[in-house]
Amino acid sequence: MQQAIAVLDSGVGGLTVVRELMRQLPQEKVIYFGDTARSPYGPRPAEEVRIFTRQIVDYLFQFDPKMIVIACNTATAVAIDDIRTHVPIPVLGVISPGARAAIKSTKSGIVGVIGTEGTIRSMAYEQALRTISPGIQVYSEACPLLAPFVEKGLFDAEEANAVVEQSLRPLVGKPIDCLILGCTHYPFLTDSISRVMGTEVTLISSADETAQEISTILSHRGMLAASGVMPIHQFFCSGDPELFKQIAQSWLRELISIRPVVWQVP
Ligand code: SIN
Repeated sequence: MQQAIAVLDSGVGGLTVVRELMRQLPQEKVIYFGDTARSPYGPRPAEEVRIFTRQIVDYLFQFDPKMIVIACNTATAVAIDDIRTHVPIPVLGVISPGARAAIKSTKSGIVGVIGTEGTIRSMAYEQALRTISPGIQVYSEACPLLAPFVEKGLFDAEEANAVVEQSLRPLVGKPIDCLILGCTHYPFLTDSISRVMGTEVTLISSADETAQEISTILSHRGMLAASGVMPIHQFFCSGDPELFKQIAQSWLRELISIRPVVWQVP
């Protein structure tokens, strides 16, 4: 049986990584878990996010995945080290790939980061950016309203413009030339974010770079799936399966089946 890449998020945001993964590595089987019943993770204490992330990883392990992708910035910021010590397979988060993409893109060395309260509080992007480029200047802003908005499936709605405008106001006029979308939910709002920030600010989503890194890691380990294989992906969510399915199908542009999961613990 084909071993899958297991991807997890607090909700639908990780689908932005899955879409890029399916585009770059169409032969790879994906198992996705969206913890929609407990989304958003952003306002939760770090320890709680660590417990939830472990629980999802343990659930996904029954499918014998070959790699874990934490496609949630908040969970990456607080739980990736814990998960790396917990499982014997490669674990990739989305913060280092996002930081690398920003460093490649910026010409001025002044970048913006938006994310959840948890991600911004963790300073994980500042650390990742300064590890690569110590002199970089970073403007960070927590945008707690945006992920819950996307979880409701409202990213196409007129209301998105107002909530994005309100969230990004502190960054408008700052001398940044690129803005890291430091939450995997935000690429759903690309049009509104771009409208508010203007065309001179390049938006950086970690999805593309993350998919490239998955490819590099699997190739290095000789674990890439054989080409010509038609994988059957599996999707799980802990909340409303119909809403998840509707969002996933419109974003991935393919039909999916979804299995609801009811947690035994809160
Ligand atoms: C959230 O659950 O608050 C957003 C997920 C993320 O940080 O990517």
